[in-house]
Amino acid sequence: SGLITYDPGYGNTGACTSNITFVDGEKGILRYRGYPIEDLAEHGKFIETAWLLIFGELPLKEDLARFSALLTAEELIHEDLRHHFEGFPSHKNQPMAILSAVINALGSYHPDLYDINDKSEFFLAVGKIISKVRTIAAFSYRKSIGRPFVYPDPDLSYCHNFLHMMFSIPYKQYDPPEEAVKALSLIFQLHADHEQNCSTSTVRMVGSTQANIFASVSSGICALWGRLHGGANAAVIDMLETINNGDYTIDEYIEKVKKRECRLMGFGHRIYKSFDPRAKILKKATHDLLQHGFSDELLDIAMQLEERALSDDFFIERKLYPNVDFYSGIILRALGIPVAMFPVMFAIGRMPGWIAHWYEDYTNPTSRINRPRQIYTGETPRNYVPIDFRK
Ligand code: CMC
Repeated sequence: SGLITYDPGYGNTGACTSNITFVDGEKGILRYRGYPIEDLAEHGKFIETAWLLIFGELPLKEDLARFSALLTAEELIHEDLRHHFEGFPSHKNQPMAILSAVINALGSYHPDLYDINDKSEFFLAVGKIISKVRTIAAFSYRKSIGRPFVYPDPDLSYCHNFLHMMFSIPYKQYDPPEEAVKALSLIFQLHADHEQNCSTSTVRMVGSTQANIFASVSSGICALWGRLHGGANAAVIDMLETINNGDYTIDEYIEKVKKRECRLMGFGHRIYKSFDPRAKILKKATHDLLQHGFSDELLDIAMQLEERALSDDFFIERKLYPNVDFYSGIILRALGIPVAMFPVMFAIGRMPGWIAHWYEDYTNPTSRINRPRQIYTGETPRNYVPIDFRK
């Protein structure tokens, strides 16, 4: 009863309270558990950030050692689960479909963790998901190119191990340069949480029914799949390639955007009305990587596009600045990650955020099942028409 507030796209609805991530879009501030993203990016690594988001504090040395040991212990998937991959078509390049399905199926191997009753059960579930998502992601890529799976190597760090499972070939272990491992850790770290974005809200929505943690995070992967969310970094590369191929000059592309024939991908954000702080960090990281011998012809185009847009009234008036996706695609390409895998990379990075939000809701005694209302705009009552009388 009472008045229902109409808020399409939930642009102005606070659906929960949260202690995890703070964003000030006007000032371009992002903090995880109170720590500025710039500090975490400079000093920490993805696994440390994952711990911070999920458990609330920076890990002590012994926490990190325990967590790393658990991630190593959990890096393999059950052989039966590995057989699930055989049911997916080869060469169809749908790694997001595989990732969401297999993460959900992973839950069926651990029904004992459907109800989490204490911190040790939660810790175990966290280790299983954070570790295995990377194995499943790499296997989904190998499946999509019709190559044999490469099993994880317990001696490698989280990101190094992922690159090994992606790119090693029989009898030749891929040995990425240190900068590549660092850049990957940074990309995951910067994607690790962003308060109530669409996929995280989806995880909280599904979790609010008390669905288990595996099913809930798998729903986040599905939400992330869309072009306007996890698919944007791939769209940036498509855009840069059309310019690189000579289909449009930079000026022609900007004119098309201004005529609303297309959008400048990797620009604009619902919350940030100044520079997205993650874009600043990634822009610098892109330059660092390229100085270490990685190359990409699209970088020049990206920089010229950015400069052109930032000095154009259309973009200035609408407060459109580069977002996290503008440079992340260039880094991923430089690391040899194919475009079809970009949303999968986002999913690995966002996993700690999804888990942290799921747990925050799960352990909040005042949380209720999420159930938005609607403004009904359909028919008023009418009489049932038997089938012979319908026109
Ligand atoms: N290029 C050209 N014009 C734009 C763009 C853009 N990228 N983004 C917004 N605008 C214009 C839009 O046309 C509108 O102008 P007007 O009022 O004259 O019609 C105004 O700016 C406001 O746009 P909006 O669509 O109301 O903004 P929104 O908050 O609903 O959309 C957005 C946010 C991110 C979907 C949008 O900026 C966009 O489509 N950007 C390109 C896609 C992209 O880079 N997405 C990644 C987002 S960050 C990662 C993530 O969250 O997953």
